[in-house]
Amino acid sequence: MLTNDYVQMEGTDMKTYLVTGGAGFIGSNFIHYILDKYGNNVRVINVDLLTYAGNLGNLSDVEDRPEYSFVKADICDSDAISAVFDKYDIDYVVHFAAESHVDRSIRNPEVFARTNVLGTLNMLNCARNAWQDGDGFRKGVRFLHVSTDEVYGSLADEGEYFYETTPYDPHSPYSASKASSDFMVKAYVDTYGFPAVITNCSNNYGPFQFPEKLIPLMINNALEGRKLPVYGDGKNVRDWLYVMDHAKAIDMVLEKGRIGEKYNIGGHNEKQNIEIVRIIIDTIKEMLPDDDKRQKYINYDLITYVEDRKGHDRRYAIAPDKIRSEIGWEPETMFAEGIRLTIRWYFEHTEWMRQVTSGDYQKYYEEMYK
Ligand code: NAD
Ligand code: DAU
Repeated sequence: MLTNDYVQMEGTDMKTYLVTGGAGFIGSNFIHYILDKYGNNVRVINVDLLTYAGNLGNLSDVEDRPEYSFVKADICDSDAISAVFDKYDIDYVVHFAAESHVDRSIRNPEVFARTNVLGTLNMLNCARNAWQDGDGFRKGVRFLHVSTDEVYGSLADEGEYFYETTPYDPHSPYSASKASSDFMVKAYVDTYGFPAVITNCSNNYGPFQFPEKLIPLMINNALEGRKLPVYGDGKNVRDWLYVMDHAKAIDMVLEKGRIGEKYNIGGHNEKQNIEIVRIIIDTIKEMLPDDDKRQKYINYDLITYVEDRKGHDRRYAIAPDKIRSEIGWEPETMFAEGIRLTIRWYFEHTEWMRQVTSGDYQKYYEEMYK
């Protein structure tokens, strides 16, 4: 299904982006970022299969803009993806589409291998065919593969960091599938001189995140007075980055990154999970009016320690030295500010939450947390 056809403007350096997974959490924030920044001097084609994680409601405010088009397609479908390259003159691919939740990968690894590995391979093939120019590739084109810090494995409790040179050591089916896709991208660079870059980012948080992930799950449960399920001893550490800082980093890597390189993106914002849960409780209470009836039940008593995630990585922490020195990117949103922006967004989007938690989510939640 193709919508919002447009006529390519000639004689401008206007870029056309093919964003895969644009209806998901980070993809939809990235599309907002790009449309806000470049206005009508950009074209964005969002290709998404709309799995449980994809939600066109995330983009309802931009769906009528002539700069934006949506194509419902599977990244594993070579005919559908080739048709997008044939129809639109794509300059940049920003490849977000993936199965992204570690817990789901532990229960059902196959779909992670299919989407994350074979889907990425298909995206590479279609881009390679479309961009081939003689022995090389069309000038100015770029494929940015959005990956994760989880490919590096797990760090000891303190002092170590993930660098771009850290050997890959994935543990979950999710991180193994992302590591495989990173290697496939690298193979295309090394074998065909394909114009790709890879970014490996730490944990994102912010608006539009599906409530299977720690932060939105805890916000939603707290507001509803449900238990807050903390895995294991709650001392696993993640390095949290506000999603718009990630969007800015991707934009900057597209413009300034060197082909064939990889760039770590992180916030230098390490926190134990239990710390995050306590901050969420404290911040919600601070933000709610004193006479709000939820003040009574939102407190630390909601915290429940539950069975640990299998193979649970202990600590992630990014050293963002390379992206800072080469590209000039730094995280801008302090956690205290980012978490307030996020909680406010969930306060103001109760209907969004109601929609995404109806139906299959309830079944997932009951099976996962029984
Ligand atoms: P998400 O689960 O919110 O969104 C994934 C999107 O991909 C959804 O819109 C879904 O419909 C789409 N999709 C899934 N399978 C598809 C298929 N076969 N064809 C087309 N579309 C398909 O994920 P997210 O959290 O926004 O993550 C986006 C990317 O960023 C992923 O590649 C993930 O590995 C990576 N990443 C995420 C984080 C994080 O903290 N969330 C951090 C680092 C990297
Ligand atoms: O590091 C980047 C990765 O961050 C991304 O590649 C993934 O796509 C993204 O999902 C995220 O993975 P995590 O597994 O770190 O995120 P999640 O929100 O699922 O969990 C964060 C931490 O919180 C982790 O240590 C597990 C714990 N947790 C999670 C949930 C959902 C709990 O203690 N309780 C929960 O209910």
